[in-house]
Amino acid sequence: MCGIVGYIGPKNAWPFLIKGLKRLEYRGYDSAGIALFQNNGIQVQKKKGKVSELENFCCDLNLSGQIGMAHTRWATHGEPNDVNAHPHVSMKGIFTIIHNGIIENYEKLRKDLANKGYTFYGETDTEVLANLIEYMYSEGAHVTAELAVRMALSRVVGAYGLVVMCKEEPDKLIAARKSSPLAIGIGEGEYYLASDATPMIEYTKNVVYLDDHNVAIISKNSFILKSVDNGDELTPEIQKLELSVGELEKNGYEHFMLKEIFEQPRTISDSFKGRIDPETKEVFLGGLSEVMPRILEAKRIIIIACGTSWHAALIGEYLIEEYAQVPVEVEYASEYRYRKPIIREDDIVLAISQSGETADTLAAIRLAKEKGALVLGICNVVGSSIARETHAGIYTHAGVEIGVASTKAFTAQVTVLTLIALRLARRHKTISDERYFSIIEDLFNIPEKIESILIGHPRIKETANKYKDSINALYLGRGYLFPVALEGALKLKEISYIHAEGYAAGEMKHGPIALIDSNLPVVVVAAKDRYYEKIVSNIQEVKARKGNIIAVITEGDNALRAMVNDIFEIPKSDPVVSPLLAVIPLQLFAYYIAVLRGCDVDQPRNLAKSVTVE
Ligand code: G6P
Repeated sequence: MCGIVGYIGPKNAWPFLIKGLKRLEYRGYDSAGIALFQNNGIQVQKKKGKVSELENFCCDLNLSGQIGMAHTRWATHGEPNDVNAHPHVSMKGIFTIIHNGIIENYEKLRKDLANKGYTFYGETDTEVLANLIEYMYSEGAHVTAELAVRMALSRVVGAYGLVVMCKEEPDKLIAARKSSPLAIGIGEGEYYLASDATPMIEYTKNVVYLDDHNVAIISKNSFILKSVDNGDELTPEIQKLELSVGELEKNGYEHFMLKEIFEQPRTISDSFKGRIDPETKEVFLGGLSEVMPRILEAKRIIIIACGTSWHAALIGEYLIEEYAQVPVEVEYASEYRYRKPIIREDDIVLAISQSGETADTLAAIRLAKEKGALVLGICNVVGSSIARETHAGIYTHAGVEIGVASTKAFTAQVTVLTLIALRLARRHKTISDERYFSIIEDLFNIPEKIESILIGHPRIKETANKYKDSINALYLGRGYLFPVALEGALKLKEISYIHAEGYAAGEMKHGPIALIDSNLPVVVVAAKDRYYEKIVSNIQEVKARKGNIIAVITEGDNALRAMVNDIFEIPKSDPVVSPLLAVIPLQLFAYYIAVLRGCDVDQPRNLAKSVTVE
């Protein structure tokens, strides 16, 4: 939610800032803005719409300046327009600020400031913060910009990743973080700032990720890290970046989402290969080895996640309960953090998150830690907040995912969950050798099988063309394929804006069946598994009501092929790993429908990839 970039050094800041904003656009794209120190003042330009609107608007302006910052917004307070776009400037023009997060007590702060004579031009919480900083600065004697920022932040309830420029101290940027990520890239006599490391990889490999309650005072030749609370100086921990620029390009694909769908044979293989001994075929999870004794003693595993990661969690539940025979509960992080859940010291809480920054998941992690549970993470983004705050964890190694609709991160999460289930099953001795080795063998074959599904993409596009004008769609599945139905429906609705619902097929008779008529496409995930007969009965029920059935079937299933309107075939596989195959045609189906409807596939309206607000 909202992307932040900043630069301070000998070069013109504009090229880095605008390119950096484009890299961070996945975080929000309602409006964008930039601020540069220029001729003893701060130049601010901002525009409603995507970063390209700002770029076009600024191309005729002389935007020089070696210190600056920029922002791409996902609106929380105030509609997305030019006025509410960041940066925000305080009433007397002393402070300019960009901010990611939510100031929860902004109404009270706004009222207090209004009573002191402050007026506001927009509706954002960020403008309130700019004025609060200015108030602190103007009121006290000898208050520096840094102190004013720290004093203001001590009165703020909420989340922030922010950068501040002070007109009266034009040689520095001040950055601070609480619950919204911020990284500082260290160059030669220059510093880069960004919400994640992607904008800076061409320039430096050395990065410091701010922790909560950190404030950084950055000048051309130095940067000082302090505690927001007491101003004590802290020692920055420099980390090495392992990203490459190639990962951030479309590499010939029309959209990032398509590229990411096609990357899955490799990304799935990257998430399991190094973790299975090639000779013994035993699973080895280095990230969990230290805490394994505690995991093995756990009475219960609670998996928390949001969105697509929550769908992966459901598959994890089925896998772990069936093979490791440990009770599992799956929770939406946004619910879990606010209800009064029972968390015991012998519980394992497993958080799943692509970005590692989702605010609700992070808050649920903190709650579980407070209650004494062992908290594990499955994250994609290395160095992310969730990866750092959990006691131990496993990276999915799917590489940078840029398309807002998650694809390769989902299959990598499911792969890692399969490995965890198998490892626990081996340790608990709840799986036979025969079953274990046969699942491992099937897992090894998954990348090749996905390749064969991907080759069939033109047919999936043809089918998409038939259904692209639908208004609603229903997705059904059972067992391991029920979460796949949920995920297929989510993909369709988020990128094509067709209303789609995923349902456990057995629940259809309790409601969704009323929707079925000759206009409703019903996508049934019906690969051959132990539920096959049951799902065939559901297909008959849909057929009897003239629904249009698109079925994901196992190759060679001629009986189903004859029964339904359209099919997507997937190779035969063990049902346990079949979600990794069945989801692929559904990702492509949603993708092509969205493209054919002219939708912005990589940046669907109102969504953002990294949801750092609750
Ligand atoms: C957003 C994204 C989804 C993602 C969800 C959870 O809604 O658009 O693709 O599944 O957040 O994000 P996380 O990074 O925690 O997996």
